[in-house]
Amino acid sequence: MERTESTQDTTAFNMPDWMQIQFADQKREFNKRPTKIGRRSLSRSISQSSTDSYSSAASYTDSSDDETSPRDKQQKNSKGSSDFCVKNIKQAEFGRREIEIAEQEMPALMALRKRAQGEKPLAGAKIVGCTHITAQTAVLIETLGALGAQCRWAACNIYSTLNEVAAALAENGVAVFSWKGESEDDFWWCIDRCVNVEGWQPNMILDDGGDLTHWIYKKYPNMFKKIKGIVEESVTGVHRLYQLSKAGKLCVPAMNVNDSVTKQKFDNLYCCRESILDGLKRTTDMMFGGKQVVVCGYGEVGKGCCAALKAMGSIVYVTEIDPICALQACMDGFRLVKLNEVIRQVDIVITCTGNKNVVTREHLDRMKNGCIVCNMGHSNTEIDVASLRTPELTWERVRSQVDHVIWPDGKRMVLLAEGRLLNLSCSTVPTFVLSITATTQALALIELYNAPEGRYKQDVYLLPKKMDEYVASLHLPTFDAHLTELSDEQAKYLGLNKNGPFKPNYYRY
Ligand SMILES: NC(=O)c1ccc[n+]([C@@H]2O[C@H](COP(=O)([O-])OP(=O)(O)OC[C@H]3O[C@@H](n4cnc5c(N)ncnc54)[C@H](O)[C@@H]3O)[C@@H](O)[C@H]2O)c1
Repeated sequence: MERTESTQDTTAFNMPDWMQIQFADQKREFNKRPTKIGRRSLSRSISQSSTDSYSSAASYTDSSDDETSPRDKQQKNSKGSSDFCVKNIKQAEFGRREIEIAEQEMPALMALRKRAQGEKPLAGAKIVGCTHITAQTAVLIETLGALGAQCRWAACNIYSTLNEVAAALAENGVAVFSWKGESEDDFWWCIDRCVNVEGWQPNMILDDGGDLTHWIYKKYPNMFKKIKGIVEESVTGVHRLYQLSKAGKLCVPAMNVNDSVTKQKFDNLYCCRESILDGLKRTTDMMFGGKQVVVCGYGEVGKGCCAALKAMGSIVYVTEIDPICALQACMDGFRLVKLNEVIRQVDIVITCTGNKNVVTREHLDRMKNGCIVCNMGHSNTEIDVASLRTPELTWERVRSQVDHVIWPDGKRMVLLAEGRLLNLSCSTVPTFVLSITATTQALALIELYNAPEGRYKQDVYLLPKKMDEYVASLHLPTFDAHLTELSDEQAKYLGLNKNGPFKPNYYRY
């Protein structure tokens, strides 16, 4: 991705008192592990592009029998407001329970609500948002409300809205316009209903995928006179912002939360470390111990997959093109091989390169009977699935997201999610991971809304390092972790401020 590097000077950046990292001897508000009653993640990652068409997970209420479009229904919440459009406002109670479950795994947002009490750093903020509407996003939206903002919200994906959660938000007074299974026309109508309101103009944008930003640019460019900033979360949306910036058309500051360090580490390394096993298990019921696995690519995602499989007793091989990552794989105890060398013997092949045609038809032809093939990278071209659509091969759908591809000699290959991202297609993403992203979004909004004139220009910025550190620090109490405080002498020795930032921007973690 091409980008203009922001020139932010994080050393000059000051955070308000309530937003300081708390050390071990300071009062902790959230030092207990949350009780995990009935914990289940109800959504896929909120970090995916708006074009993903995964189906969202379980819903208590099956509303498929009600075919009336929400646009044709007259609904009011219990306070008499009808400034929303959801599938069925009566589902609000179920949605509220889901939001309460999510709150327990989103300690940082709950801490923000407590710490900022009284200060209302978003007082006067009018935020228009376009994200997946899930229990986790609801915790974010209600946190923004608790910090003083007025919010209007639409979905960034036509399939991912949890109807009962949207209903709970509407019942709580949020102007939410979204339901699962919107048409394309509905999608833009919902966005427009959030923006085009008499007597209300947004002054902040929170976007996931760039569609909302694009709509305002196209239809209501004058609104940018009042807008203080855009916070964008997805790779796609960030890419669009950098293009606007390069063309000199970006007219407000924008914060790229996708590339903040904490988000990257959690989404790529830790999330994949957990969800690779979940995705494989749900689709194949397989046992991992003793299985031979080859992981293509030893970047953040590959490292997570390898660590999880090694811990389960699998024999893990790695392929790499980059000698640095290759050496890391060797030092971590994995055999570095070329795919050709192990393709006949492995039980599982996992791609995580972000590249194309990593597993070719030639590799697929040579695999042994029963080999499982899946992809954890962004693109569905890492495995050359198209090459398997030939007359001599038979495809058999054995389960949702599981195909057997059968060769003329009877050999079967097990293909998961047709080569699309395994974890997003076949498993869930832990709420705790989403908590990192949501906290980063909230802090980016607070920062852009409160920044003094001139701190940010019409450019794309990364979250200041100090705030990234703050996001991490807000999640530490969940583990009863005690952070060491620098002594004055040590801080002087290292040339650091005692309250951070603790690393230069180029530090790689
Ligand atoms: N599944 C998920 O939830 C999830 C989460 C985050 C990112 N991703 C996606 O996963 C992919 C990898 O992300 P990352 O953060 O690990 O990226 P990364 O750049 O850190 O790692 C990719 C690695 O693959 C190596 N590589 C490239 N071509 C190769 C080839 N032909 N053979 C072997 N190795 C090769 C690169 O050298 C690199 O080390 C990206 O497409 C990313 O968008 C997926």
